[in-house]
Amino acid sequence: MCGILGYVGSKQAGPIILKGLRQLEYRGYDSVGIATIDHGRIELRKDAGRVDAVEKKLHFGDMIGVYGIGHTRWATHGPPVQKNAHPFVDESGKFVLIHNGIIENYLELKEVLRAQGVAFSSDTDSEVLVHLIAKVYRGDLLKAVFSILPRLQGAYALCVLHTDSREIICARNGSPLIVGVGNGENFVASDVSALVEHTRRVIYVRDFEVVRVGEHEVTCFTFEGKPVAHEVKEVSWNIEQAQKQGHKHFMFKEILEQDKVVEESLKVVFSCARSWNRIHIVACGGASYAGLLGKYIIEEVARIPVSFEVGSEFRYRKPLIGKGDLVVVISQSGETADTLAAVRLAKECGAHTLGIINVVGSTMAREVDEVVYTRTNGPEISVASTKAFLAQCIAMYQLAYHLKGGVFEFAGFGGYIKSLIELSESIKLVAQRYALYPNFIFIGRNRNFPLALEGALKLKEIAYIHAEAYQGGELKHGPLALVCEEMPTFAICPQDEFHDKMLSNIQEVKARRGRVVALGTAGDTKLAGLADDIFYLPAVDALLYPLLESVVLHLFAYHIADMRECDIDKPRNLAKSVTVE
Ligand code: AGP
Repeated sequence: MCGILGYVGSKQAGPIILKGLRQLEYRGYDSVGIATIDHGRIELRKDAGRVDAVEKKLHFGDMIGVYGIGHTRWATHGPPVQKNAHPFVDESGKFVLIHNGIIENYLELKEVLRAQGVAFSSDTDSEVLVHLIAKVYRGDLLKAVFSILPRLQGAYALCVLHTDSREIICARNGSPLIVGVGNGENFVASDVSALVEHTRRVIYVRDFEVVRVGEHEVTCFTFEGKPVAHEVKEVSWNIEQAQKQGHKHFMFKEILEQDKVVEESLKVVFSCARSWNRIHIVACGGASYAGLLGKYIIEEVARIPVSFEVGSEFRYRKPLIGKGDLVVVISQSGETADTLAAVRLAKECGAHTLGIINVVGSTMAREVDEVVYTRTNGPEISVASTKAFLAQCIAMYQLAYHLKGGVFEFAGFGGYIKSLIELSESIKLVAQRYALYPNFIFIGRNRNFPLALEGALKLKEIAYIHAEAYQGGELKHGPLALVCEEMPTFAICPQDEFHDKMLSNIQEVKARRGRVVALGTAGDTKLAGLADDIFYLPAVDALLYPLLESVVLHLFAYHIADMRECDIDKPRNLAKSVTVE
């Protein structure tokens, strides 16, 4: 959470940083700020609000100076107001700093600094960093950064500038940081999307490293000051793939890309060992629903017991895992703090960790024992995950078949996905009828239940509609009390071995005057006779339906959110990459 960006070169820094921050905005959009240095003077502009709104007022593009830093904030400490926006300048006006992460002992550090006479201008944890550096500075910024690091507890990617030296000093512990290597110019950023327009050559900075980024050179050190070598890697995607390409929202563009995602995903190969005492799947949010689907599919296909848990719970338990166990983590960003903590715990317990991760070079990808990358036809920018979710679900089937000793195949998969995407306009017509309901129930049974969870999550996160998901059989144990004319139910009811049970659940809803939108198999007249509205999936093997359902669920939520005029790509209070607890 929070996007950070730095530039040092010979071009005007303001417009470059502004453009990069637009790409990073999905990481946080509470406030935005840029600082550049020109003729030994810091120029600082920042305010609460989205990049484009603040740009209209502050005109970042006019900022001169050939090096600078910028930040988009997802508020943790202190409300999203101007004084809490980054960058922060010290009292001498010579140091300026941005930070992504949380400094857990900031109160203690603040007290020490206050006792030394420092007056704080914000409520943030981050501001302590710039004052600490200013206090210990003796003419060498790099040394000053080294000397404050042992005093910090928490997570950070920080970048600091001094008016007298044309370089950015960065440090990383727990928050993402990459360096973009250009020709006579270099960049630092939270992720590749912010700099891929300028260079595709990147260095993935590791935890406990400090980097000095000058115009012509990049030098990495350990926290102890030892120089470390880094390979410069080539990013495989380009700037067009990180743009909306004429679509109103990234989410819609990303839904439309899914036939290509399927094509690419089917090429993914698992090669991990097949024999494990036990398999554990850990992930967060939408990725955790892909993980839950994985539990159903692996147990069904490979007949191996699988436990499933969300990262935020797993990390604080004493999980019964050890040598001989496989812990599978699933993450789009590869930076989710809770999932990352689960990886570390699993490794401590002696388990083998396998990451199913989308962002190449991300922290998790580097920390797991084995990584399999999902292939999503370029980056996923929308906060609401769609194409990465589908890729994660496909990976679960591939893992299941691999563990069984076979290979996952799904003839015609890409074509099916294409035909479902083509339903968009008819889904939109139905969505119109449901856009004003404040509540929704989603039901599904067995392997379709994780998809019900996913459908409900999407409606919550992008349309701000309260939605809950239940296994069809659970309705009668309580939630049925909620069903009435004002509470519609979305029933996932493909023609599988649970079909008749689901029809009974739908009858229960209808008997209480609840409206039902159903997702069923083409030609299902029984379901059509019961549901108020229906979407059809092509008839496939029962095991495979979950792989077709998310397209419809995502389009349904998308069109409702669009009708409600929600900020679809940047839902309130959320951020794409959840790097704090
Ligand atoms: C999905 O739409 C969400 N934005 C969110 O739940 C997400 O899946 C979760 O935060 C996990 O993120 P990750 O895949 O990057 O680890």
